[in-house]
Amino acid sequence: MSEQIFIAVAKVEEVAPDTVKVVEVGGRSILLCNTKDRIFAVENQCSHAEEPLACGRIRNGWIACPAHGARFDLETGEAMNPPAKDPIVVFPVRLTGETIEIAV
Ligand code: FES
Repeated sequence: MSEQIFIAVAKVEEVAPDTVKVVEVGGRSILLCNTKDRIFAVENQCSHAEEPLACGRIRNGWIACPAHGARFDLETGEAMNPPAKDPIVVFPVRLTGETIEIAV
């Protein structure tokens, strides 16, 4: 089993509570989301029509797609309501001091 490799992507202070920050890692656009006193990392792409999620509202552990309103659980990626059915991609996050690291 290969070990996950974590990459530093931002400082905690760059992602204020209830906001998101877009980072590019290995050619992928990834959203860091600060909600529920945690940082989550998800792919910046909705599973419905592949629109970016970056301008979506986040609250209480979910993000809403700005295109058609599907909401996704930021921990599991699961779709919480239509029109999306499939999950979005989520990435493991860890904090090292004030640095946010993710495994892609
Ligand atoms: S593209 Fe996100 S709900 Fe349609």
